[in-house]
Amino acid sequence: MTLLCSKSMYLKQVLRSNLILLVFLVYWVTCSPPADPIKCSSKNTNCTITNYYGMFSDGSVCQVAEALYPTTEEELISIVAKATRNKRKMKVATHSSHSLPKFVCPDGQDGLLISTKYLNRTLKIDVKAMTITVESGVTLRQLIDEAAKVGLALPYTPYWWGIIIGGLVSTGPHDSTLWGKGSSVHDYIVKLRIISSAGPEDG
Ligand SMILES: *[C@@H]1O[C@H](CO)[C@@H](O)[C@H](O)[C@H]1NC(C)=O
Ligand SMILES: *[C@@H]1O[C@H](CO)[C@@H](O)[C@H](O)[C@H]1NC(C)=O
Repeated sequence: MTLLCSKSMYLKQVLRSNLILLVFLVYWVTCSPPADPIKCSSKNTNCTITNYYGMFSDGSVCQVAEALYPTTEEELISIVAKATRNKRKMKVATHSSHSLPKFVCPDGQDGLLISTKYLNRTLKIDVKAMTITVESGVTLRQLIDEAAKVGLALPYTPYWWGIIIGGLVSTGPHDSTLWGKGSSVHDYIVKLRIISSAGPEDG
């Protein structure tokens, strides 16, 4: 009797710990955000960039000389201007890097990465016009949440909310919808400011 009792208690405990483990695993799998794809050996220099798989489609990881994290549009412009003056190769990187091909790698190992990780603010919401102004590093999740706070919604989106608006609009990953203009998010953009390298004549 005693043995049976302790056995069943043991069984119960095993079951319970398995359940806890299962709950833990499910929680862990669905909720852990991807690690930062940029790793630097000193503060912002001597870095590597990869994607959320940990390597690009050819199995490699790219070397870059420097990674910068602007927090405002002005800062971003000055970084791009300086790199342009110095004829430096640069690429845009994001907080989670979802591309399998190595689009994000600057040519060679002396390149500069400019991350949109901290360009992630909602700048303005106009409820009447049903428009929202955001920086390019804002995630789809943030956009949906910010819109919901004022009773707005996005009826057309790609399937995963971890992607950022800049990447979403520039690569055009679409889902499907049966109404309105369709599901291409860029079809709903009313205004866009793009910062690119240019000569002194463009300021
Ligand atoms: C750059 O990082 C690599 C390892 O990631 C290290 O072997 C190398 O010594 C570093 N170079 C400098 C200049 O810090
Ligand atoms: C912007 O991103 C940073 C770094 O991931 C995070 O700490 C911060 O909370 C984000 N800001 C907003 C407004 O979500």
